[in-house]
Parts: sequence; structure tokens; C-alpha cells
Amino acid sequence: MKANYGHFDDAATAYVITNPQPPRPWINYLGNRRLRAFVSQNAGGLLWHMEPYSRRITRYHYTAAPGDRPGFYLYVRDRRTGAVWNPHFAPTCTALDAFECRHRPGVTEFIARKDGVEVCLTLGIPPEDDVLLWQVRVRNTGLVPADLQLVNFLEFGLLEFMREALGWCYLKNQFELRYDPELGAIRYNYHVFEAPFSPAMLIGCSEKISGWECSREAFIGKAGSYESPCALRAGAELSNSDLPLGGHACAVQGVNLHLEPGAEKSLGFTFALADKWPQAEELIRKYQSAAAVAAGITAIDAFWTARLKPTVVDTGDAQVDRMVNTWIPYNCMVALDLARTISTDHMGTDGLRYRDTTQDAMAVANMDPAFALQRMRQVFASQTPDGGGCFAFFPDDPRPIRDTPRRCDNTVWQIYTIHNLIAETGDLRLLEEMIPYRDNSSGTVYEHIMKGLVYIYERRGPNGLPTLYHADWNDSLALFGDEHAESVMLGMQMVYSCKLFLDVARRCNHPADVAWCERVIAELTAILNSDKVWDGRWYRRLLFSNGKVLGSAANRQGRIYLNPQSWSVLSGVGDFENRGQMAMDAAAEMLDSDCGLRILMPPFKGIPEPEDPPLGSNPGIGENGGIFSHANTWAIMAECLLGNGNRAWKYFRQILPEVVSDRFGADHYEREPYVFVSSIIGPVSNRFGEGGISWLTGTANWMHIAMLQYILGIRPTLDGLQIKPCLPDAVPAATVKRTYRGKTYCINLRRQDGKTTYTCQ
Ligand code: GLC
Repeated sequence: MKANYGHFDDAATAYVITNPQPPRPWINYLGNRRLRAFVSQNAGGLLWHMEPYSRRITRYHYTAAPGDRPGFYLYVRDRRTGAVWNPHFAPTCTALDAFECRHRPGVTEFIARKDGVEVCLTLGIPPEDDVLLWQVRVRNTGLVPADLQLVNFLEFGLLEFMREALGWCYLKNQFELRYDPELGAIRYNYHVFEAPFSPAMLIGCSEKISGWECSREAFIGKAGSYESPCALRAGAELSNSDLPLGGHACAVQGVNLHLEPGAEKSLGFTFALADKWPQAEELIRKYQSAAAVAAGITAIDAFWTARLKPTVVDTGDAQVDRMVNTWIPYNCMVALDLARTISTDHMGTDGLRYRDTTQDAMAVANMDPAFALQRMRQVFASQTPDGGGCFAFFPDDPRPIRDTPRRCDNTVWQIYTIHNLIAETGDLRLLEEMIPYRDNSSGTVYEHIMKGLVYIYERRGPNGLPTLYHADWNDSLALFGDEHAESVMLGMQMVYSCKLFLDVARRCNHPADVAWCERVIAELTAILNSDKVWDGRWYRRLLFSNGKVLGSAANRQGRIYLNPQSWSVLSGVGDFENRGQMAMDAAAEMLDSDCGLRILMPPFKGIPEPEDPPLGSNPGIGENGGIFSHANTWAIMAECLLGNGNRAWKYFRQILPEVVSDRFGADHYEREPYVFVSSIIGPVSNRFGEGGISWLTGTANWMHIAMLQYILGIRPTLDGLQIKPCLPDAVPAATVKRTYRGKTYCINLRRQDGKTTYTCQ
């Protein structure tokens, strides 16, 4: 029987985990784009400020067993029986009478009951203030009085993650923690030599505390564990340890409670961070009452309700609607905020990647244009003055821009996002905004985009297609080690980019650029339809510098790749002799697994030939023949452009996390049923159906575009909102409420006799 770990609560925009031990930590993100955290169903998690490389506040053990420790803990101790439990089950793992973890945008709530005591712990970071709040509500639902001690726990590491790994022994005595009785809070004074950031940090409580610990050794004990802290064992009390000489630091505060049957009590704990002590103290005072902590949580809910409401879709398919209305937009916002930096998979050392962030900003442009623009300004500011992009940049820490490994597609994406952004807002003045290049010379947004396209175009190979360098969108193409190979996918993307840019160049009255775009489109389209690229039934993937090709029927592995087929349609290259349709038919036949399209078939056993040694991912995983979610999104869009609504809908539905999780069972799929994974292991593997990296993937943004702009067909253009739906037969009617340029439209779509019509109010 398939295990069940939880369910959606659509009315509360929540996912409710009812079994505290899913196969992996199922997390949520908290934060206000400055102070941020992730937190699992066991309150395992990590807190950081701005970015987790040099401003990481707490510890999280990625590779240790048991995993998902430590976090934002609340221990409940029954002072009469000595029983100790967590409303989030772990780390004590004491059996509970009732358990729910409710993840909703920006807030995670635990509701648990044991021996007649109900505890509701709500964690969140309010929009205005850099504080992490623990809102605690305790109710005695039993028949006898309860004597309890509530104890919170937070463990600190060095703010600089790599320096902790490399030099803990030298730096462990360069901070101190002490309880300040006057303020009623623990002061964490961080004075590590050469630290780029030494904030003022305080941990307070709304109540008079019965004891505290700043030393992890004092709380847990030298041979103790998070599971059974020695300060909570029978007969033990909190020892009021300060940590004046550094060491392993934590913040623990205990509150004693006596509750008569039926009585309840609300309280709060607060972690606060500021540049200087007076501001941090002000935050602690602001949240020194349970009511203020509760108001902080309410402010988070209000923030997210306002963010997620502008578009409301009703297709009659609950699994689709809950994703499109809540979880996809939320996933998009988180991915744009955090790029690929930190999760239970990513360890927080990467910055923002040029092409990933550009794509992540694309759908957010329709929900929160200001946020998308803020990110795009940072992308442009990392561009070289000759138009090249970079691999990664670090707007919030002092690391220099990284140029390697070199991705040839970096600057092809920016017009997609900027075009979508100005189509959303209608404000073409953005194109005239001056933004610096990384050497501090500057150019308009228009120039940044144009230079980026010219940069790719000028670096073509002998066949006239853009050169690969290390890789294009597909990182794994680097395994072939052919910098001079030419990329079919990027060639098609250039055609599409030039079509979008032409639209802009015309309006801005730049005839020379219009002519350049027209020439590039014609030239590349002809090459892409030549026999060098067209394989007879589909488009090839790479032209190697030694004359060989990848993605051809003649190849024994990597015979057909998904992306060139989808992009032939998106770019219009495949309009020629109806090749786009043929190519997508070949993809349907050879790549669709009924739970997602594989990125290529057959997977590589050895590189370049099957008899060569294996290199890179094992067959069926990730870019080596896995079901790469991000690449599926373009196939959905392509099928809509071809008018194949049924196929588009099938492709959209079958990779929804809830659908995949139900199909394979949560124990096998493993990952959260409410956010996307970057890829699912493909059918050649005996691990078929296992989910890969979750949350931080380009999938969410493109799935949003695929549903809103292609299947439902409500697409912002420079001329206004265009409606061109492509519904499947399975959806006879759908409605969309969409706010666009200040007006709210209610669009009713109907599917009848294979045709979709609409009315709009
Ligand atoms: C990962 C990377 C992304 C890349 C994709 C395909 O998602 O973050 O940059 O395009 O893999 O290789």
C-alpha cells in the first residue's frame, strides 16, 4: 500500500503533513528577502541573512545521519512525568497523540497534542522586520492541571560557512553569547577577525524565563544529542550558561507554565538581527509580547495573500488549479529569490546564475514586476561591456563574478524576460534605463540585450551556428569536451530572441537593428533547416567540430533530444514543411514516458560511445535521459503553438509533483508533492520515478508561462492582452481572473467541437 504523508488544504492555501516522517525533509521557505530560512516538517532548518555563504546564522548538517538537524526547535517538558516531546516530532521523536505540519506561503505551523496538552507552534519572518518568530499557543485539553516547561533551541555556526569548515579551531573563540537580564534576551556578539559582516543578534522571549543556555555543551551535554538534551533529563534544569569565550553556541530559553484544564496561553520567542545593537534591541522590544508576535505572523499571511491573488484560474481540475493559483507562483517567487543557492540539496555556496536568474524572473514579471526588474538589473550589472554574460554573480556578498564554466546561452534569455516585463507593465521606458556593465561603463537595457545577442551571433562556428564553449542550457554537453561544437538549440533560441527583439527595435525606431534581426532570423532558419541539422524526422542537437553530430538516428546513444524539437516550434524554425509537428511527434513517440518527457534517448552508457567509460550522470538520471522537468515545459508550449491542446495538457499534468508522487508513491518519489523537482529519474533506471532536486528549479517559472500564456493562452504583448487559448477536450470550460495594467478581467473559455472560444469582461 502506498503510504500517505499529507494532503492539500486549498481553502487555507496549505499543504498539511500528517505523518511526521516522510521519506525526505519536506520543507518550506520563510523570509522577507533579507532574513530567510527553510524549515522542514520536523522543524529542521537553516537561517541566514541575505545570502548563506558569508551570512549563515545557524547550522544544518547536510550529510550526517540522521539528517535534517538541527533547526528551530521547541521542546515541551512535562514537569510532572518528565516526558519531553516536540510539536514537530523530531528530534526527540516522542510519539504524539496528534500531529500536523502545515506549510503555507511564508509560514510553517505545527499543531500537536500529547497527554492532553496541545501545542501550536508557528514559525515565520515578517515582511518588515528581520526577526524570526516562534509563535507558541498552548492549551490544556486534559482533565488534570498541566505543569510544563517550554524550551526553544537555535544552534549557531560561523557566519562564513567555508571558514567554519576550514578554520573553526582558530575562530571558535571570536564571539560571545550572554544573557542580558535587563533586556530579557541573549546577546550574540560576533567579532570574528576579517568577517565581512558582524551583525548585532539577539534572542528574546515574551515571558519571564526560568533559565537559559548559550552553550550547546551545557544544554545537550558533552555526550548528549538533540534527541535527548541533558538539561531536559530527569532532575536536570537549565544551567544558565553564558559563552564568554566562544565555543559551540546556541540560544535556549525556558518558560515554565501552569495550565488548569481548559486554560490556554500564548507566548513568543524572537530572533532579531540588525547592523547595530540599538536597532536589534528595538526589534526585541517590539516583539516582546505574544500579541506582537501574532501580529507579525498575520502580516506574513497578508503579504502572501496580496502576492498570490492577482490571477485566479478555475479549470475544474483541482490538482491543476491549486498548483497554478498557489504553489507555482509561490515556487516561482522562492526560486527568483534564492536562485540555486540553498535548500536541503543545495549547500549555500552558489550565487545567482546568469541564465537561471534571467529565466526565474520571467513569470515573476507577471506577478511582481518590481522584483523581476530588481533581479534583471543585477543580471545586467554582471554583463561584460562586450555583451558577454557570466556563470554566476553574488550581489549580496563580496565574491567576484564567476565566468567559468562558460555557458554559451547566457545572454540569449534576457529579451524573453524583458519582453514579458514590458508586455506586462506597458512601460517601454524601461528599455532606456541606464544600467552599468560590470566594468562600470554603462548602457541602456536595450543595449545590454542587443549586445548580448550580437555576442552570441559573432561567435558562430564553421556551419554558421553559435559555438558551444562548455555547454548551452544543457550543462552535461560539457562532457563532450568540444568547445567548438555548434549548438542547434541555441541557434533556434537566437531566432526566437531576434523575433522578440525585432518587436522592440521597431517600436524604438532602430531600423538598423530591425534589419540585423531580420538577417539573423533568415540566415539561422535556413541553416537550421539544412541537412546538417534536420535529421529526416527531427532536429539534431550538436554539430561537433570533427564533423560528427549528436541527436541523429545514426547515433547509438543520444539519438534524439527533446529541446531542439520544442524550440523548433517556439522559434518558428519548424514551420518549414511542417517539420515542427513531425519533430514533436517523434518526441511524443520516443521520449514520452507517460510521466514526463525524457530529455534524450537512449541515455549514454559511455562517452562518446557506449563502449567508452561512463562519464557524468548514470543512465536515466538528470541530463542523461532523465525526465528533466524544465525541458518538459517547452514541449508543452510547443504543443500549444501547434494546436495540440490534448497533448499539451497531458504533458503539463503528468509532471505535476502531486501527480508523480501519487503515481509512484510518496516513498518512492520522495520529494515534496507541492513544488517542482528539477528532474525525475527515467524509465531505464530501476529507480524510475524518484524525484531529484526540489524547489530551486527553472521549472516553476516556465510552467506558469506554459499554463497561463499557452494553454489558457492569456498572453501579455506590447499591444495589450492577447487571448489565444489551447484547451484540451478534458476541459470544456475554464475561467481566469487576471489583473492586467491596473484592470481586472474575467475571461471565460469554452471548448466545444475541438475549438476554444472565449468571452472577456
Ligand atoms: C540545472 C541548472 C541550469 C541548467 C539545467 C540543465 O537546472 O541550474 O542552469 O540549464 O540544469 O543542465
